[in-house]
Amino acid sequence: MSNWWQDRVVYQIYPRSFQDTNGDGIGDIPGIISHLPELSELGVGILWLSPVYCSPNDDNGYDISDYRNIQPEFGTMADMDRLIAGAGNLDIKVVMDLVINHTSDEHEWFQKSRDPKSPYRNYYIWRPAVNGGPPNNWTSFFAEKCWEYDKLSGEYYLHLFSKKQPDLNYHNPAVLGEVENIMRFWLDKGVSGFRCDVINLLYKASLEDGTKKMILTGSEHYISRNGTHEVLRRLRKDVLDHYDCFAVGETVFVTPAMAHDLCDRSRGELDMVFSFEHMETDQYIVKWFKRRFRAGRFVKIITKWQDALEWNANYFENHDQPRSVSRFGNDTEYWKESAKMLAVCLLSLRGTPYIFQGQEIGMTNFDFKTMDEIRDIESHNVYRLLRHMHFPKGICWNIIRVSSRDNARTPMQWSNSANAGFTTGMPWLGINQNYRRINVYDQKKDSSSIRKFYQKMIAVRGQSDTLKYGSFHALHTTNRLFAFEREYSGEKLTVLLSFSPKKQKVTGQGSVLIASSGRTSYDGVLAPYEAVILISEVKA
Ligand code: NOJ
Repeated sequence: MSNWWQDRVVYQIYPRSFQDTNGDGIGDIPGIISHLPELSELGVGILWLSPVYCSPNDDNGYDISDYRNIQPEFGTMADMDRLIAGAGNLDIKVVMDLVINHTSDEHEWFQKSRDPKSPYRNYYIWRPAVNGGPPNNWTSFFAEKCWEYDKLSGEYYLHLFSKKQPDLNYHNPAVLGEVENIMRFWLDKGVSGFRCDVINLLYKASLEDGTKKMILTGSEHYISRNGTHEVLRRLRKDVLDHYDCFAVGETVFVTPAMAHDLCDRSRGELDMVFSFEHMETDQYIVKWFKRRFRAGRFVKIITKWQDALEWNANYFENHDQPRSVSRFGNDTEYWKESAKMLAVCLLSLRGTPYIFQGQEIGMTNFDFKTMDEIRDIESHNVYRLLRHMHFPKGICWNIIRVSSRDNARTPMQWSNSANAGFTTGMPWLGINQNYRRINVYDQKKDSSSIRKFYQKMIAVRGQSDTLKYGSFHALHTTNRLFAFEREYSGEKLTVLLSFSPKKQKVTGQGSVLIASSGRTSYDGVLAPYEAVILISEVKA
């Protein structure tokens, strides 16, 4: 028996960049509401919203100062209620981002916790100085130290991300109680689950120094520790089990074995996890040091995860990752072909597919020229660090240009009119100038567009039990070709995907279920970046 979150396709919205309706240059909830019919037409069954809660925006909403209110620039709680209801009317479920590893330093709990005598003190991780400096040698995800000294308290607090994102203390049961109430608040409003931000980092098992060998010094003390599993089991038993909902975890540095423990049904923790390994195949050690994309490496890792887990959260893009067509496809000569091929790949794998806004029209990486155009805190911190290490300016810029999270965050390209139809004001982040060529409006009119193809492919998945529930079996994983089979109840689908700008010979039998080129029969040769799904009976 399947669950609705296995049958449906998820569409991630980064609200800041989706649609502005009041001219302040920032996307808002009424903007999302205005596009619901379009999302329904595309075939989307679940919307995941990146954070819309009150936030000072140090990390664009991933620093929450009030979990029960809406950031005014996004609208009001009444707007949010209208969004949930409007989506529900179109049979679209809404999933919230649950950011509970840390809050904003402007959250009331943190402000109170600065007083050592406050009952909130133990909500966060405060420690006295050691030898006149930070309590340990850990380093943060945002290229800084992990500890910030607070004069008022006379102590340091831990922050794995920016210093405006203090980590909560999961050794304190009161924190868990607060989080459970926040989850109930949103579930009672009618949301259908959570995308759980960096969820496998919650529990800090010890605060000892990290061994220098780790990528992030100290991370061995908090990645997927037992305490996190216990917290997740409590959240499941106390809250999630009482609602018709699901939880997908964003899990950092996770191995298949760790992922298995986090989402194995019998353990009662998460329903699925986002792993990072396939997204790391074009880098050396950290994402800032890119190496040439080789499809073979990419698809072998995808295959490894398909084989290892019962159910995967499949994605090629999100608000933290550069655009997939620029990265795994070809965003010049074979832009359309490779974007469609990636669509077939994503929607044919076993698991729940996640599409990031703009992916369905083949949006590409940004065309910015200087650091002044970058808004992302992580990119600025890394640039500063690299400059501090005496990397020349040109090299630093190149590193940021290729890997910055702002690549995915440029405003949604709705039309070829001013500001891509995103805003009548000044957009908060520059708009990719290719909006005149790449936009929703034009693609809705063009029967051969990437968007039309996504629509078709989503419908094909929706109607195919084999694509949804079938077993996965890899056939070819080379730098030019990814071929695999899906099999279910007497039916076999063969998925043939070319990652090459040259024709590829590959045998395959059966009639064509869908082809990215629109062809209706298969002759044993794939065109550049073509994708074909063949359908055949399984011989008894
Ligand atoms: C992961 C989120 O996806 C990212 O955008 C954010 O910066 C960090 N977690 C910290 O919340």
